[in-house]
Amino acid sequence: MTETRRLRRLRSSPALRRLVSETRLSPDRFVLPLFVADGLAEEEPLASLPGHYRWPAERVGVVAKEAEALGIPGVLIFGIPAVKDERGSAAHAADGPTQRAIREIKSAAPGLVVFADTCLCEYTSHGHCGIVEDGEVLNDATVEVLAATAVSQAEAGADFVAPSDMMDGRVGAIRRALDSAGLSGTGVMAYSAKFASAMYGPFREVAECAPSFGDRRSYQIDPPDGRQGLASIERDLAEGADIVMVKPALAYLDLLHAARQRFDAPLAAYNVSGEYAMVKAAAERGWMDEQRAALEILTAIVRAGADFVMTYHALEAAAWVAL
Ligand code: PBG
Ligand code: ZN
Repeated sequence: MTETRRLRRLRSSPALRRLVSETRLSPDRFVLPLFVADGLAEEEPLASLPGHYRWPAERVGVVAKEAEALGIPGVLIFGIPAVKDERGSAAHAADGPTQRAIREIKSAAPGLVVFADTCLCEYTSHGHCGIVEDGEVLNDATVEVLAATAVSQAEAGADFVAPSDMMDGRVGAIRRALDSAGLSGTGVMAYSAKFASAMYGPFREVAECAPSFGDRRSYQIDPPDGRQGLASIERDLAEGADIVMVKPALAYLDLLHAARQRFDAPLAAYNVSGEYAMVKAAAERGWMDEQRAALEILTAIVRAGADFVMTYHALEAAAWVAL
């Protein structure tokens, strides 16, 4: 067998496997998503996202400090307001849950990069990501409200706003609105290749943002359409996005790989709530080892091309990979 290439030599000891390892995880790769809700005195555990909470804005500094101590560079904030209306007005209120949480985190853990999710679905009574008229989600009317929301998040101190709505032209409109408000230092992380996925189930329960009629297929990308994901990334970069994202991560590794080859911008991936829930649920039943499964998934997301990953496993994984 001398002609055979003996690849097993490279796997022969733990030390050698570490030396030749092509992909390494570190806490530097993780961003922790956080939910902040109005009307709570205490944090409230989330049944569909074990290990996560809805936080009162005034207490979210506790978990932000924990993330910072574990070496996690950033957090992504989602707000759940006390009152929802047709136009999602609480999204751009100076004292809205997201805005208060941003200020709290900036004072508790000033070293963290704060990303604010910029969308209306958590704030609208109908649960759609935009302004609805005659059963239709309007594009340009939504973009105006998103731009106002981004400005109010940036004024509260967000380092990045992160539009997750999938309306056309929102990145450019947000960029222009930030610049004309004197907020040119605030970045835009665009949810660019965001698909109409079944994997958002647990999140919608947590954020109370499931649409009350219809679905999100007229604005999120149809799962079979990978090229649309790439076109969306290209368009968002042209409109001024600083960071682009693929979401979900696991079923869209092909897009992470293609986007990494094609574009020079930082590339983020969102390891979404349903992906986390599948691992948690299987681990609870003893069907998979949670640590191995979670780290394998996160490694694959990075191997495919992501520079960093929004993940509900951030706190646990940061501790695991620091060992
Ligand atoms: C809202 C939003 C969603 C997620 C992030 N921002 C849900 C959706 O689009 O329905 C999903 C995150 C997750 O599942 O972890 N626009
Ligand atoms: Zn939304």
